[in-house]
Amino acid sequence: MISIPDAESGYVYLVGAGPGNPALLTLRAAHLLKTADVILPDDLVSDEVLNLASPTADIIPVGKRCGQPRITQAGIHQLMLEHSKADRSVIRLKSGDPLIFGRAAEEIGFLREYSIPFEIVPGITTAFAVAANLRTPLTDRSRASKLILATAHHAAGKVSLTPNWSGAFPDEATLVIYMPGRNFETLAQDLISSGIAPETPCTAVSRASTPSEHVHITTLDRLSSTDVGPSPVILLIGPPVSQSAY
Ligand SMILES: C[S@@+](CC[C@H](N)C(=O)[O-])C[C@H]1O[C@@H](n2cnc3c(N)ncnc32)[C@H](O)[C@@H]1O
Repeated sequence: MISIPDAESGYVYLVGAGPGNPALLTLRAAHLLKTADVILPDDLVSDEVLNLASPTADIIPVGKRCGQPRITQAGIHQLMLEHSKADRSVIRLKSGDPLIFGRAAEEIGFLREYSIPFEIVPGITTAFAVAANLRTPLTDRSRASKLILATAHHAAGKVSLTPNWSGAFPDEATLVIYMPGRNFETLAQDLISSGIAPETPCTAVSRASTPSEHVHITTLDRLSSTDVGPSPVILLIGPPVSQSAY
């Protein structure tokens, strides 16, 4: 039996909720959920994970979509400050891993600025969960020695990858794209212009780990918006992706 400390008063925990299945949470994350006073979940966190929270916990959704009035990042910071200063234990709960495309840099900066004690608890990022479900490796010693996690969405609102690559795209790499936007044809053309072979295997997974999961297996030059399911979507592009035996 291992002993895991409870959530502490005045602390903020940046916790990864993983892909949705509570069985894929870390033991630390599950225990914090049971013992924290306040939970601030993103909208991609599953109900099954939230059901692990203490019945007395105050769950305040801070997702930025679903037709709700948009909460700002500053608003989320304010909630972390308010509740931690009131001596509550606070979980900032993010889908996947909290350090991957989750605005953790801003939240860590804020917590440091206000001297709020915090801990970061990793989670299984979407790329890893999707690859496992597809039974496809992300690296391969003979064909893919690099793994690149990228996003097509930037703070400035740009949705194009091209300006981010200086020079040609690296050889023998698997590329995973989070938040790819909806213009898959343009994205694919940008990547082909950056040097990725048009026939490179590409898999788009929509709503992974949910009952409406949709998997589209294709090649980069055939990637088309009409075949990709609804958001959220993640793209896996690279030689090992062809091994998918989904
Ligand atoms: C703001 S990022 C958060 C990433 C998260 N921190 C992680 O480690 O997976 C949201 C993006 O993650 C991907 N994503 C998250 N959940 C997903 C799901 N269930 N199915 C497909 N893509 C998902 C999508 O690309 C989505 O636009």
